[in-house]
Amino acid sequence: MKILIIHGPNLNLLGVREPMIYGTKTQNELICFVKNCFSDINFSFFQSNHEGKIIDKIHQSIDIVDALIINPGAFAHYSYAIRDAISATSLLTIEVHLSNVFKREEFRKDLVISDVCKATISGKGIDGYLEAVNKIKEII
Ligand code: DQA
Repeated sequence: MKILIIHGPNLNLLGVREPMIYGTKTQNELICFVKNCFSDINFSFFQSNHEGKIIDKIHQSIDIVDALIINPGAFAHYSYAIRDAISATSLLTIEVHLSNVFKREEFRKDLVISDVCKATISGKGIDGYLEAVNKIKEII
């Protein structure tokens, strides 16, 4: 099974970025941790701070991967274009947030991509990614 993990803006700064909120693991450590937990899955990874690049990557993933795990960063709260890309490709997608977006600023409670995702996991830190993989395995 092939799973693409997509990270949106500022997640490249994991490890130094507000560690009290996002944890101390770097992005690279996070991805290695997830990969090491599932030796049966072929993971690929893409991070961008640019909306259009994320959209291009989603388009290119049709017929290439079986599912997406996306932490869209702040795009989760306003990118209808990423939402439409997921919808247009019909890729099985799980949305993950490290922090609990429902217990932070008001604007983080709006999740415009969630309705085209099979599930949204928020506030479980790195374990949220493992839960996302397990959900995909259950579905496929
Ligand atoms: C985040 C939550 C978003 O609100 C924020 O903009 C991020 C990270 C998370 O993983 O908790 O960049 O997606």
